Amino acid sequence: MVFESQHPLVKHKLTLMRDMNTEPKKFRELIREVAMLLCYEATADLKTQELTVQTPMGTAVGRHLSEQIGLIPILRAGLGMVDGIWEMMPGAEVWHIGLYRDEKTLKPVSYYNKLPTSPTVQVCLVLDPMLATGGSAIATVDILKEWGAQRIKFVGLLAAPEGIRALHTAHPDVPIHIAQIDSHLNDIGFIVPGLGDAGDRQFGTG
Ligand code: PRP
Repeated sequence: MVFESQHPLVKHKLTLMRDMNTEPKKFRELIREVAMLLCYEATADLKTQELTVQTPMGTAVGRHLSEQIGLIPILRAGLGMVDGIWEMMPGAEVWHIGLYRDEKTLKPVSYYNKLPTSPTVQVCLVLDPMLATGGSAIATVDILKEWGAQRIKFVGLLAAPEGIRALHTAHPDVPIHIAQIDSHLNDIGFIVPGLGDAGDRQFGTG
């Protein structure tokens, strides 16, 4: 399943991110904000349990989250999506996965993974702003499934149709939450029109 956000705030902020004149500081603010909005949509089916609390005026029957959530940013670019989401779900665990794309083959190369032997969370949100060929997302979901993760969702900003197809084919059980599906990949594996390199634009390394 692919969920492309239709929220006006997401579209507005994403357009500012695409603008090549948007500087890293503003870009980091925007990625944080868009991630929060996408997270709101992606977490709409989280399980809750009844919880009774005392208000100053009486007793209220409410609900609280009953699942342990894991945030899985793919380094580097996924890092900027963590803070805002974590603020909304401070009980979440953050497990970093380090992957970079080999510039020639476009295949993901793994360089960091400190997951413990057995899973500690029930729902994993894989965070990466860009779904280009889909290789990095597929490799991350492979790692999480091998770890024993049961429910995995992908949350990203921009996707190429090629990446959506590849991730959906490899892992049809993983819902894809995205701010916008773009036109295509160019011959060096960049999303067009895209926003450039999301890692470089956040960290000022472009
Ligand atoms: C970019 C991006 C994704 C990946 C997407 O990372 O942030 O992780 O490429 O491409 P794919 O769908 O074809 O795998 P990059 O390799 O540039 O590393 P960085 O985030 O450290 O800059």
